[in-house]
Amino acid sequence: MKEFATLHPHFLHGADYNPDQWLAYPEILKQDPEMMAQAHCNCMSVGIFSWALLEPAEGEYHFEYLDRTIENLATKGIKTILATPSAARPRWMAEKYPEVRRVNKAGVREAYNTRHNYCYTSPVYREKTAAIDRLLALRYGKNPNVILWHISNELGGECHCELCQAAFREWLKKKYDNDLDKLNHAWWSAFWSHTVTDWEQIHSPMIHGEPDEIMTGLYLDWRNFVTYQTTDFMKMEIETIREAGSQIPVTTNLMWTPQQIDYHYLAEHIDVVSWDAYPSWHEADQIRCAVDTAFNHSYFRSLKHKPFLLMESTPSNTNWQAVSKLKRPGMHRLAALQAVAHGSDSVQYFQWRKGRGGSEKFHGAVVDHNGKAAGRVFEDVKQVGISLEKLDEICGTRTDAKVAILYDHKNSWALSNASGFINADKQYVKTCLQHYKSFWKRGVDVDVIETGEDLSRYSLVVIPMLYSLTQEQIDRIEAYAANGGTVVATYATGYVNETDLCYLGGFPGNHLKDVFGLTADEIDSLYPTDKNAVAWDGKSYDVVDYCELITPTTAEPLAYYEADFYKGMPALLRNRYKAGSAYYIGCRDTGDLTDRLYGQLLGELGIKTYDLPEGVTVASREKYLFVQNFNDHPVTVQLSGTYRNLESGEAYHDTVSLKPLDAAVVCPE
Ligand code: GLA
Ligand code: ZN
Repeated sequence: MKEFATLHPHFLHGADYNPDQWLAYPEILKQDPEMMAQAHCNCMSVGIFSWALLEPAEGEYHFEYLDRTIENLATKGIKTILATPSAARPRWMAEKYPEVRRVNKAGVREAYNTRHNYCYTSPVYREKTAAIDRLLALRYGKNPNVILWHISNELGGECHCELCQAAFREWLKKKYDNDLDKLNHAWWSAFWSHTVTDWEQIHSPMIHGEPDEIMTGLYLDWRNFVTYQTTDFMKMEIETIREAGSQIPVTTNLMWTPQQIDYHYLAEHIDVVSWDAYPSWHEADQIRCAVDTAFNHSYFRSLKHKPFLLMESTPSNTNWQAVSKLKRPGMHRLAALQAVAHGSDSVQYFQWRKGRGGSEKFHGAVVDHNGKAAGRVFEDVKQVGISLEKLDEICGTRTDAKVAILYDHKNSWALSNASGFINADKQYVKTCLQHYKSFWKRGVDVDVIETGEDLSRYSLVVIPMLYSLTQEQIDRIEAYAANGGTVVATYATGYVNETDLCYLGGFPGNHLKDVFGLTADEIDSLYPTDKNAVAWDGKSYDVVDYCELITPTTAEPLAYYEADFYKGMPALLRNRYKAGSAYYIGCRDTGDLTDRLYGQLLGELGIKTYDLPEGVTVASREKYLFVQNFNDHPVTVQLSGTYRNLESGEAYHDTVSLKPLDAAVVCPE
C-alpha cells in the first residue's frame, strides 16, 4: 500500500463535520461547503457519530445522507475522511443486545449512555460493527473523494463483563503457556496468599475486587490485555474494510499521553498516526504548556517515524476543560504551526459548526451559532488555511532527531501503581517533560520513543525514571552504549521487570549496573518541605523529592550531595562503558542540573543548538525551520545565515523577529 503522504501530498485543513445533526436545516447544509472553501478548508471528517442515522433499525441501512455529504463536499474540492461509526452505537442495539453495553469497574452493566461505551469483546457488537463497516467500504471504499478511513473514535476505556473476563483468561493462558506456576511466579502471588489454583479464579482488577496497586502483576497484565483486545477490535474493523476491497489508508485518532492502552502496540496496525490535541493554552505557565504539547507531537510522530495528522484541535476554546478560555490573538496560528513543526501534515479541528444542542454546543468551532463566514475565529482558521497552502512543499518531510527520550506507557502504568516512593504522584511525565525542555529550549529535535526501538540512530538517549524494563530492553540499552552511544538515566531506573518483579542483585537491574558503573543502593523520598542540594564543580543545584544513595563501581562521580546523612556521596556520575558513555543522575533536581548536563553533552556530541530567548524554540523538518515564540512579548532570534520566510518571501540575515505568540517558517537561502 502507498504511503498516505504519497497518496495525498498536501496539508489537510478541515474539521469534524456533523451534517447528520442538521438534516432539518437544508439551507445550512447548502451553505457549509461554500463556507468551507472560504475558510481554505480542503478536508472534512464525516460520519463519526452517525450510526443511528445510517442504521435506524436493525439491518435497515440508509446511506443517502453520506452520499450527499461526500458529493457536496467534493463540488468544492473538499475531501472526506470517512469514519466507521463504532464509537457510538444506536439506542435500539443497546436495548436489544445488552451484551454490547460495557460493564464498569464496579461490575455494573451500564445503561444506554454517552459514547465510547461498547464491549470490544462482544461477538454481537463485532458482528454489527463489521456489517456496517462492510457496507461503508463497499459503497465508498474506492471513492476518489474519500482519502482516509477514520476507525471509530478515541479508542479507550475497559469492559469487565464476563465475555471480557473469559477473553482475559484465554490471553493469560497463552502468555503463560497454560502454566499457572509461571503466572503465580510472575504475579508473586504467594504474597498475602493470593495463589491462583484455577484459571477461573482470575478476575480483572475491580473496585470491589483486587485493587490496581496490590497485585501489580495482575494489573499490568490486565492493561496489556485491554491494549490487545482494543487493538483486536480495531483490527477487525480494518480487516473488514480491506476484505470489502478498499485500499484507502486507515487511521484512528489517539489522545494526549499517557493513556491506559499502549499506543505503541496499537499504532503498528494503522497506516498513519493521528491524534487529538487540546492543550490548555493561556494557563498560568504557557511555556510548560508549549513544552508538553511539543512532547506529545514528538511522541506521535515517533510512533511511526513519519509525519502524523493532527486530527482534532479547537479553533478557539473547548467546553470540557476546567476553564473554557478563548485562544488569544496569534495562538491559533502558533498552535497550528507548532503541530506542523513537529511533523503534522494536517491541521484539523473539532468541529466545523457548533451544534444547536448537546453537551458540545459551546465547544469552539469554525462556524459559530451566528452562522457567519466571518469573525475572529473564522478569520484565524482561514489564515491558517492560507498559510498551509503556502507551506505546501513541507508536507511529507521528515524530522531527523539525534536525541531520543525513552517514554513508555507500560512504565507509566507500573510506576503509578507501585506502592512506595512518593505515592501522591511520582511525576513520571513531568520528569520526562523537564528533560525534554532542555532540548526544546535549544531548538534540538527529539524523538520520544518506546524502549523496544532501535537506538543506534541516535547520538544521545535519555532514560528518565524507567522503573520497569524487560531484560530485552536492558540488552538494547547495553548494546547502544557498548557501540558508542551516550546514554543518560535517572534515579528509579531498572528496578523491576515487566510484571513488576524487582531485579535481584542491585539496581539498576542486571547489566545496567555495568553500563552505569554503579549500584543504586537506596532511594530516599523527600517531603515537599525537605530540600537537599548537589555540588557540581563548586556550583550548587537544588534537589527535591528523590535522592538515591549510590555506590560507584567504575563510574566517576561528578557531583555530590551537600546535606543530610548522605552528604558527600555521589549524585551525578559518568561511566565510560566500552565504546560509549553512560551518565546517571541519582536525584531529582529542579531543572538546572539536568539542563547544564544536556547543554554540555550536546556540545560534546556536536549536535546543533540555537541560542534562543526564553519561551522560544526552533523545530525542523529537513531544511525547513519553524521558529516559534510562545511569549506574550515580541522577540528577536539569532539564526546565523540567510533565510527566506516561506509565507512572505521576506529574507532574513542572521536574525528573525517575531511578534508575541507567533511563528515563522523559514528555509536557508
Ligand atoms: C474528542 C472527540 C470529539 C469531541 C472533542 C471535543 O477529541 O473525539 O468527538 O468530543 O473531543 O474536544
Ligand atoms: Zn466486555
